Formats: sequence, structure tokens, C-alpha cells
Amino acid sequence: MNATIKKCLFPAAGYGTRFLPATKSMPKEMMPIVNKPLIEYGVDEAIAAGIDGMCIVTGRGKHSLSDHFDSNYELEHQISGTAKEDMLIDIRNIIDTAKFTFIRQREMKGLGHAILTGKELVGDEPFAVVLADDLCINPDEGVLAQMVALYKQFRCSIVAVEEVPADETHKYGVIAGEMIKDDLFRVDDMVEKPEPGTAPSNMAIIGRYILTPDIFDILETQEPGKGGEIQITDALLKQAKSGCVLAYKFKGRRFDCGSVPGFIEATNYCYEKFYKG
Ligand code: G1P
Repeated sequence: MNATIKKCLFPAAGYGTRFLPATKSMPKEMMPIVNKPLIEYGVDEAIAAGIDGMCIVTGRGKHSLSDHFDSNYELEHQISGTAKEDMLIDIRNIIDTAKFTFIRQREMKGLGHAILTGKELVGDEPFAVVLADDLCINPDEGVLAQMVALYKQFRCSIVAVEEVPADETHKYGVIAGEMIKDDLFRVDDMVEKPEPGTAPSNMAIIGRYILTPDIFDILETQEPGKGGEIQITDALLKQAKSGCVLAYKFKGRRFDCGSVPGFIEATNYCYEKFYKG
């Protein structure tokens, strides 16, 4: 199988109800951490991992996502030759470096269904998945770059995990597995949002995945699971049982920007670290 990861899928069709009313007409992925939308942090992380194909699964009312990764001639003409032009350097570099493709998810049937919707854009090759509301920061080497390096070595699906307090495991997919080397586990169990007190460990999946393309075949026939939705966690458990799935305790910090406290924490962190000085 291909050893390089060239595409990254961004499921971005969700409603972002935890941020209403801000997300009533604005995609949650466009919520800015300081002056940059969440999805752009994810795209930066993918580019830093050597990926140049950005495949975005959008939904109704999400036009601003495709507009953001396109030229805006009126605006650019207006600020041309002024100091403000510098503020567009980063996004222009992204647009010049990466190729964006979009597909719309017509029904919200869960993360597994969103990923399956992206099949047309990804094709038959291994790919990364970024859930933009998990903002991951590691100055030396981004989380996706760490996972792409592992993929080159092991050539199987990999999920990023983080230890969370026992009373928070019900918010995540949770894995159990055998440690094969520092920070790396071979998954033998995986449960989507376990009931309190029933989690197989405290290692929670966060929004970074590398998936081999056979996941699409599994998702095609995946029955709805937790919450009546098609869960990527359930499909990955099947892959783990018939082959191999790894869980990687990544280096870096993760902010849950899908929650108000995590969003504020990320804002303060990025302001101090990248903006202020
Ligand atoms: C999704 C996944 C879950 C994972 C989480 C990470 O859940 O289904 O397994 O732990 O993302 O953010 P969601 O947060 O979309 O409900």
C-alpha cells in the first residue's frame, strides 16, 4: 500500500450547536481562534505533515468554508499596497500550496457516514482525518506529522489518543490495547462514548486519524451504533479485529474547541504564543 499520505479529510458538516447562536449561519469550523479560523489550523497541520490534498465534507450553509480557501479579488484589490496585505500572506500560501476539494453530506448520520461521504474525494489510498474542533499544537512536530511518520513504518490505521479523567471517558471513543513501544498501542478494544464506569481504559480518541482505504468497505455496511449514528469507532474496531489498528499517545497539546471552556483556553494560549509578541 502507498507509503505516503497525500490527502486529508475534514468532516465539517456538523451544526456546532454548542456554540449557538454564533453557529446559526456560520460554520463552527470558521470560528476564529484569535484571527484564524479553526479549520485553517487543521489545514496548516496537514501541510506541515506533507499533505497537499484537502478534502472537505461540507453541508448546507457552509459556503464560507470554500470561500475561505479561494481568492477574494475585491478584498485583495482594496488592500493591495497597504500594510494590511501582509495579513493575507499565510492564507495565500495555503491556497498556492494545497488543492481543495469539497463534497456535501446531505444527511447527518454520524462521523463514520461523513468519512464515507468523503470516499469520492479520497479514492483508494490511505488518508488522514482532522476534526477541526480538536485543535492540536506541538511547535516542534505537529500531531499529524508524527502520525504520518508512524504510518510509514507500520502501514495501518492509527488513531491519536490522550489520557482523560475517568469521569470524562463518556464523551469520547475509548480504546484498550497492548503497548508495543513507547506511546504506541495495538488496539484490541474500542468503544464509542462508553457509559460512565464501563470504559475499557482512560485513553480517549481525539480528532486525528490515519485510515487505510479498506475502512470505506467496512463503513459501507456498518450498522448504526451509539446515538443511532454510523460510528467510525465501530468500523475501526472491525479493522482492529481483522488486521491492525494502532493508537498513538501524541506529543503536544489538544484543546477541545467544540466546548466553550476549551475554546477560551485555546484562544488565550494562541494569543500568548503566536499573536502577542
Ligand atoms: C468524535 C468521535 C469520538 C472521538 C471524538 C474526538 O466524537 O466519534 O470517538 O473521541 O470525535 O473529538 P464527537 O466529538 O464528534 O461526538
